[in-house]
Order: sequence, then structure tokens, then C-alpha cells
Amino acid sequence: MSFHIRQANNRDVEGVVNVIHAVFDEYSFTWEEDGYHADLYDIETHYTGCGDTFFVAEKDGVVIGTIALERFDLIPGAPGDLKVIEGYSRVQGCDCSLERMYVHPDSRRFGAGSGLINHVIAVAKGENRSAMELWSDKRFGDAHRLYGRFGAKVVGDRILDDPDQSPEWGLMIDLRQP
Ligand SMILES: CC(C)(COP(=O)(O)OP(=O)(O)OC[C@H]1O[C@@H](n2cnc3c(N)ncnc32)[C@H](O)[C@@H]1OP(=O)(O)O)[C@@H](O)C(=O)NCCC(=O)NCCS
Repeated sequence: MSFHIRQANNRDVEGVVNVIHAVFDEYSFTWEEDGYHADLYDIETHYTGCGDTFFVAEKDGVVIGTIALERFDLIPGAPGDLKVIEGYSRVQGCDCSLERMYVHPDSRRFGAGSGLINHVIAVAKGENRSAMELWSDKRFGDAHRLYGRFGAKVVGDRILDDPDQSPEWGLMIDLRQP
């Protein structure tokens, strides 16, 4: 399948919501437009405006996948150890995170997910970032297999404060490795 990856803006909101809503329906997770998913309805304020980047994978003008790169100051401490910051477990040694990685159920297993991960890792490495933090619902086994291929290591777990109180694995990708 040929697709291309580009930075998203607010004209992509409908396409982004379509993809992520389909995944939440697939897993019977709760959709919360004014809460946990509010960022998706104003990408420019929640990502671009905060120094972060939201990307989409697009095929024939249709959004088929999403991913975001958040940037922050290095979380100090021994790399890979967890630290509670503002009520959330976070991974020490990281200075960016992978967020909102979803591929529409009809567009899977054609390389879009790998392409999106590859893209954000390349962007982060291009900025000389140290390590990438990932938190992922424990039920997303397909994603964890994929993350492992990109060098992600499980470093802990937590319960997310979302409507489903989702259990998540915490993972870390060392960006200094070739
Ligand atoms: C995880 C997810 C993003 C992967 O997206 P994807 O587009 O299917 O990913 P890819 O196509 O790159 O890889 C998926 C599998 O297809 C295989 N594949 C890729 N291209 C292929 C091709 N042309 N032919 C056959 N197989 C292919 C990959 O090797 C991989 O195999 P695996 O199941 O053994 O790991 C997607 O399954 C998803 O959205 N899941 C639900 C949400 C989720 O888990 N999100 C993560 C949140 S942290």
C-alpha cells in the first residue's frame, strides 16, 4: 500500500477522529470528546502550539493512521527508572514521547504503523533527543510487538487516569543507539 506521512493541522480533525474512534469502538473503549480525546479536536492548539507535532499517514487523500511526538525537558534520574510527576508515572532519562499511535482497522498490516513509528524516531533522532517514552494499553499486543522491533524496552506499568482506568505498559526507546 502506498501512503505518505505529513504533519497534521486542524483540517485533519475529521480524518484523525475517524481513525481513532474506529480503534476505540474496536476495543469497546470509552470515547470522551470533552475529556480524554479533546486534543484531537484542536490539533493546532494541543500539539503545534505547544511545540509538539501530530502526524498523519494519508492514502489517496484519506487519513489512515496517526502518531504524535511530544517534546519536553529531560526527566532527570537513572534512565529507565520511573518517577511520579503531577500524579503520573514517567520514565527517567526521556526527553520526548510517542503519543496517539493508531491505524484504522481497514488499513492494517501494510506497513503504515511501522512507517509512522520510523518517522517519529527519525525526527527525534534528528533533534538529538536522548530517549523516547511510550505508555501503551496492555491490551494493544500488536503495538507492543512492533515497538519491540524498534528497540523499545518495557520499564514499568501504571493505571491511566482515563475513563476506562486503562492498565498501561511503560516503554522506552534509547535514541542514542544506531
Ligand atoms: C499497532 C498498530 C498501530 C499497527 O499498525 P499497522 O499499520 O498494522 O502496522 P504494520 O503494518 O507496520 O505492522 C503490523 C504487522 O503487519 C506486518 N506487515 C507489515 N507490512 C506487511 C505487508 N506488506 N504484508 C504482510 N505483513 C505486513 C508487520 O510485520 C507486522 O507484523 P506482526 O503482527 O508480526 O508484528 C495497529 O495495529 C493499531 O492501530 N492497533 C490498535 C491501536 C494500538 O495498538 N495503538 C498503539 C497505542 S500505544
